[in-house]
Amino acid sequence: MSETVAGAVAERFGELYGSGPEGVWAAPGRVNLIGEHTDYNDGFVMPFALPHTAVAAVSRRKDGLLRLHSADVEGGVARIRLDEAVPESDRDWTAYPAGVAWALRAAGHDVTGADVHLESTVPAGAGLSSSAALEVVVALALNDLFGLGLSGSGLARLCRHAENAYVGAPVGIMDQTASACCRAGHALFLDTRDLSRQQIPFDLAAEGLRLLVVDTRVQHSHSGGEYGKRRAGCERAAALLGVDALRDVAHGELDVALDRLGGEEELRRLVRHVVTENHRVEQVAELLDSGGTRAIGPVLVEGHASLRDDFRISCAELDLVVDTALAAGALGARMTGGGFGGSAIVLVEVGDVAAVTRAVEEAFTAASFRAPRVCEAVPSAGAVRLR
Ligand code: GLA
Repeated sequence: MSETVAGAVAERFGELYGSGPEGVWAAPGRVNLIGEHTDYNDGFVMPFALPHTAVAAVSRRKDGLLRLHSADVEGGVARIRLDEAVPESDRDWTAYPAGVAWALRAAGHDVTGADVHLESTVPAGAGLSSSAALEVVVALALNDLFGLGLSGSGLARLCRHAENAYVGAPVGIMDQTASACCRAGHALFLDTRDLSRQQIPFDLAAEGLRLLVVDTRVQHSHSGGEYGKRRAGCERAAALLGVDALRDVAHGELDVALDRLGGEEELRRLVRHVVTENHRVEQVAELLDSGGTRAIGPVLVEGHASLRDDFRISCAELDLVVDTALAAGALGARMTGGGFGGSAIVLVEVGDVAAVTRAVEEAFTAASFRAPRVCEAVPSAGAVRLR
């Protein structure tokens, strides 16, 4: 399967650039099982990789030129001179791969140019990390071709830096780490403070379960203001509480911390979400470890309520998915990703997939919302070289 995809992408590269690529790489999108808006608070997250990937065919150049083409965007080959690529100069999709090349060069790596052709099956704007997949696939290709020797974690850090500094989106490290480091059949428990990771077996099929991803098709963007406002609020709260990051507020100390924030109602809500969400990631890790996948359902539902009521980043479509799925028999459901649209995840017994899917689709029709896209999420592999 992946050999067929690699062959097709390599062939298109040849048509575009006149000869075949030196190699072909793939990096996946992700869904986050639990741990939302905790990554820029030094907290815990638990994403897993999707079977949907960004695939890149790449060859080196020596003349300082980066040529970029995507099958998913209209337009021809973009040409970027690496010595002219500066942060926030590019508002197009090309900012992601160009940002990666810029970040590698800024870190002292001798990247002298490349020809790149990309094809992605990760839906854009669905909260499934299509941009992280794009960054990671290009970073891995350049790492291999130029012999840079960076680890998965090193690549993730570099890609986050590219997105923060070059693209201008103040995101955390979760998505890039998921795309670079996930393992098939596992969820990734990541401590975003020291980047230590644990692969937690997560074989839904073996337990007769399924995890559905419902893309509401409400588009979101993280370079917009709301994500940054939440992040700034969390940083202000940490400063008022005298801690490095909200990660340092233990779950058992939450009430004391909230008291100390006095009348700062908005900050109190942000802190309550982050502290309880970190606790939920630990709870889910323990439940999965002890084979209690069904028991994570209520924890997912609590996570959604916290994002909706305290962090205030849900929307009518996401709430409708969650409420409808639970009423139709789902074990758990919550929005996933940055919020303000994008996707929700739904944990269901295999026998309930059809009924829950139908209920959600009918509820969207009744509410006159755009038809959602529903797919099954199978925990898949992180970034790899295909050929
Ligand atoms: C986006 C960001 C991540 C993370 C999530 C929210 O996906 O890219 O770094 O902050 O939102 O959990």
